[in-house]
Parts: sequence; C-alpha cells; structure tokens
Amino acid sequence: MFMLIEIDAERCIGCGRCVADCVGSNLLVEDGTARVKGRCILCGHCVAVCPTAAVSIPGYDMADVEPSAPAGETIDAADLLRAIKSRRSVRSFKPEPVGRQELEFVLQAGRYTATAKNAQGCRFVVVQDGLAELKRLVWDGIEELLALPADEKPRWVKLYKPFLRDACAGRQDFLFRNAPAVVYVAAERADDAGLAAQNIELMAAAQGLGVLFNGYLCRASEELPAVRAFLGADERPLQMCLLLGCPAVSYPRTAPRMPGDFVVK
Ligand SMILES: Cc1cc2nc3c(=O)[nH]c(=O)nc-3n(C[C@H](O)[C@H](O)[C@H](O)COP(=O)(O)O)c2cc1C
Repeated sequence: MFMLIEIDAERCIGCGRCVADCVGSNLLVEDGTARVKGRCILCGHCVAVCPTAAVSIPGYDMADVEPSAPAGETIDAADLLRAIKSRRSVRSFKPEPVGRQELEFVLQAGRYTATAKNAQGCRFVVVQDGLAELKRLVWDGIEELLALPADEKPRWVKLYKPFLRDACAGRQDFLFRNAPAVVYVAAERADDAGLAAQNIELMAAAQGLGVLFNGYLCRASEELPAVRAFLGADERPLQMCLLLGCPAVSYPRTAPRMPGDFVVK
C-alpha cells in the first residue's frame, strides 16, 4: 500500500525534530519547513514527535492519533513487574463469554504492538461464536489423520491421540480446555506474532481475563487445511494461539522461577 506523509507548512516550525527522529533519513528541513524525500516504512514517528501536529499520514486513520501518555508515567514499574509475576497460564475457565469491550481492548493491544520494519502484518482471528464449529473441524481433522495407515500418518498427529480420546469422552481436553474464546495471530514472522500475543495476554490480565498460549492447538490448526480455511487464513502461518476467557482458578501467590540468566556489562 503506497501512502504519503504530508507536512502542513502553516504549522511546521522547522524545528527538525522529525528529521532527527526519522529511522530512514527520509525527511529534511528546507527553507524553514520539513520536507519528505521519498518512500519510507511509515512508522509514524514524524507524526508522533512533531510539537505542532504539522505532520500527518492521511492513509492512516489520523483521528486515531491521541496525546501520548507522558514518558515514565504510563504504568508504575513496580506494579507492572508485579502484574507480570502474577500472570499465570490459565487452564480452567468460567463459562461466561468474553465481552465486546474486553475483546476490543485485547485486539487493540495486539494491533499497536511493534512489528519488524513496521510491517503491521499480523492478522488476529477471534473465534467465540464459531467455537463449536472450530472444535468440530479440529477434532474431525485429527481423527481423519489418526485413521491413516502408519506410514502415511504425519508424526505430529500421534501426540494428539489422548487429546482426542478425552474430547470424545466429554472430558476436559488438552486443546480447548473449556475456554469460551480462542485468539490466533497469523504473521510471516514468528517474532511479530509472539510480541503481539504477549501484549494481548497482558491486556487480558489487566481486564481480569486470562489466556493460555496453546502450542498444540496452534500446530494442529496450522496443519489442518479445513481449519485454516475456517479461520480465513491466507498464506501467513498461524504463529500463536491463545485460549481466552475468565479464569476459574485464582492464584494467591506468584510462582517461583530459576535465578535469572542475566548478563550485564
Ligand atoms: C509458546 C508457548 C506455547 C505453550 N503451549 C502450551 C500448551 O500447548 N499447553 C499448555 O498447557 N501450556 C502451554 N504453554 C504454557 C506453559 O506451559 C507455561 O507458560 C509455563 O508452564 C509457565 O507457567 P506460567 O505461564 O503460569 O508462568 C505454552 C507457553 C508458551 C509460551
């Protein structure tokens, strides 16, 4: 998508802050006004850093831009560390669905996460109303593969035999648990998807929700064409999968960890 950066010459004071902050050296100040040299990754730093709001990228929704939270004043560091320590993988959920407002915040947290080269190439797929259909496609797909002769059976699917058995018996299953919603992140790059998923988890926690990063469900969904089609997946791989809902377990204390493997020079 080709987009332009626009400088409002009436507002620009020629301070050069956008020039200094541009990662691609794509701006200069000429005759007291900032000018754009050419194409760039459209990271929006020029919009964000301008003291007079003279820069815009009309291809984006500029109404979405708001005053930033003052640096160092967004979240108290000790509170944030406590929240990170208190976050737990959730493997048991209450039946109530995730509300629209909570989902919106969760998705926006993923959307605003940094991406390499500002690709903004993550697709976020939420399955809540369609969960029964997703489950059917996943279990049917797994069952079909498990029924293949040994030499045709993909190696990965063998691990899923006990999961299918539990699901068929109506027991708590290892893939979906009893979560009311599933969120997938599809992206070319695993790091882009992983970072977005982490912000999603933190946003979920901030709203009293919880997630389980689910590597097994992610793998099965990626391997089964009918599931990929149901999820509206294109050529981008499903990199992350999160069960999402209101935790049915509470943890009165944090979990211990190994000493940090830190190198500080
Ligand atoms: C990428 C990733 C995939 C995971 N996949 C699964 C999974 O398939 N099933 C599961 O029960 N837990 C899964 N987990 C959760 C980890 O087991 C869990 O994070 C770890 O045991 C530490 O527990 P905590 O998250 O409560 O601190 C996964 C975690 C990550 C980061």
